[in-house]
Amino acid sequence: MNKTVLLLGILSYSLWALDGYGVYQKKCMQCHVEMMDKQTVLKQIKTLKAPPMVEVSNRLKENIVLKEEDAAVKRRVVIAFIKEYIENPNIDYSMCHLGALDRFGVMPSLKGQLSEDEREAVAQWVYDRYEGKTFK
Ligand code: HEC
Repeated sequence: MNKTVLLLGILSYSLWALDGYGVYQKKCMQCHVEMMDKQTVLKQIKTLKAPPMVEVSNRLKENIVLKEEDAAVKRRVVIAFIKEYIENPNIDYSMCHLGALDRFGVMPSLKGQLSEDEREAVAQWVYDRYEGKTFK
């Protein structure tokens, strides 16, 4: 096979594999809106199916605290939590506000609907997309 074609194939595959935002749009957006401030959430709560992703990301970062803060380790731990939660959501370890759990119920499991690469990409996106963007 032509080497350029092969290289382009590998390149586009890896670009695709890393498109966390695309995975979010396909698999999460129908429930988690990307950006919304607290006041609008309260006003529009009836139209929402889940906490906005900006809130999810901020809550996990606030709640998952390492004894010895290390940004890279923390990012990895939060990403691992998100990847796990996609397949095994559970009321016992949801970090959602109780009010939100009451309102929305527990997230349904998406087991079997995302590949390992897609879960990794979307979890990284959830972490990185909201760096420096607080939910308020
Ligand atoms: C059918 C609706 C629905 C879809 C689709 C959905 N979620 Fe959720 N998700 C929820 C609800 C409802 C909650 C809040 C209750 C809870 O924590 O389980 C939630 C909570 C979460 C949490 C927070 C857990 C915590 O402890 O605070 C994460 C992380 C999450 N979702 C990630 C995702 C990702 C990533 C996707 C796409 C791959 C996704 N969700 C798709 C409904 C959904």
